[in-house]
Amino acid sequence: MLKKSIKFNATTVDYYFNAKLAVLSKIVDRVNTILVTDENVFSLHQNKFKNWNTIVLKPGETFKVQATVDSVIQQLIELNADRTTTLVGVGGGVVTDITGYVASVYMRGIRLGFVPTTILALVDASIGGKNGVDAGVYKNMIGVIRQPAFILQDLSFLKTLPHPEWKNGFAEIIKHACIKDASMFKQLESADLNYYQKKPSELSELIKNNALLKTKIVQKDEMETGERKFLNFGHTLGHAIENLYSIPHGEAISIGMAYASRISEKELKLKDATKIINLVKQYELPTEFKFDKEKVFSILKMDKKKVKDSIDYILLNKIGSAVIQRFSFNQLKSYF
Ligand SMILES: NC(=O)c1ccc[n+]([C@@H]2O[C@H](COP(=O)([O-])OP(=O)(O)OC[C@H]3O[C@@H](n4cnc5c(N)ncnc54)[C@H](O)[C@@H]3O)[C@@H](O)[C@H]2O)c1
Repeated sequence: MLKKSIKFNATTVDYYFNAKLAVLSKIVDRVNTILVTDENVFSLHQNKFKNWNTIVLKPGETFKVQATVDSVIQQLIELNADRTTTLVGVGGGVVTDITGYVASVYMRGIRLGFVPTTILALVDASIGGKNGVDAGVYKNMIGVIRQPAFILQDLSFLKTLPHPEWKNGFAEIIKHACIKDASMFKQLESADLNYYQKKPSELSELIKNNALLKTKIVQKDEMETGERKFLNFGHTLGHAIENLYSIPHGEAISIGMAYASRISEKELKLKDATKIINLVKQYELPTEFKFDKEKVFSILKMDKKKVKDSIDYILLNKIGSAVIQRFSFNQLKSYF
């Protein structure tokens, strides 16, 4: 196990890499701790939850809504949770987003920890303090930015992770490589999902490096006024089609990355758009999708990155180097 304490604006977050869930009893007081998970994780890992107070949610993005938040708050009240309680989200990004949000608002904020159990949550959702819920088709419309006290990575959870969820997680890993790390891009090119599924130490190193890559970006720009926006590469179009067509997050942002790469080719003379699209395909992810332009644009017009009649779009001038480009909606429409 490797412990790293990382400083953010208002707090320090303890990262436990390559750890076991058992370590949790050393970090928190079991009596004053409530775990939040979903039915899938709970039923597949029942032993891990023995002797812990646990709230079990229905799984999936459909339940990442205010009604679930209200129900968790009701259960916290019934369990007599107070300001000394620690809330720990054990699950994928849906669980960590909901738990992080609830912990920020319950009694105006209680201690929070994460045990991410999907690749996507390990490398992305558990990191950076953005937590919240959806409002209809508008993704992550309601939420907070507040760092957890700790993130504990126990990769044994991944033994039960379904194959489509591996693909979803690798979409974010490819995104990280595209915006910030050309050598990670090369490393990914020389492997595939099967390779990482069979090589636990390489996987663990890749996950750690990705968690630290995102952490570094967030540390520099916690409130997303600059560089943190790079993490939205592929996400502007991605989020719009994800909820509109109920397609998995990783697939949606892969399509978004393919579009953003082609736009970068035209706008910034990016040479490697085809290379990026091929890497996305190599990790079994889609790069094309037929969508209704008008419907997508009506969602983009409500995007958190819009500024009046324009939107900040993330493009690449080369692999490993992202830029923010402001487009009017009309300009952008001509590329879709
Ligand atoms: N807060 C952030 O910064 C941030 C960043 C990226 C994504 N997100 C959010 O994360 C969510 C997507 O995360 P996700 O892909 O982890 O989704 P998820 O939480 O829905 O998990 C995907 C599926 O895998 C199941 N699962 C989780 N762990 C498992 C395990 N170990 N074994 C078997 N099944 C398991 C879940 O029950 C679910 O069915 C989206 O809501 C997205 O908006 C948030």
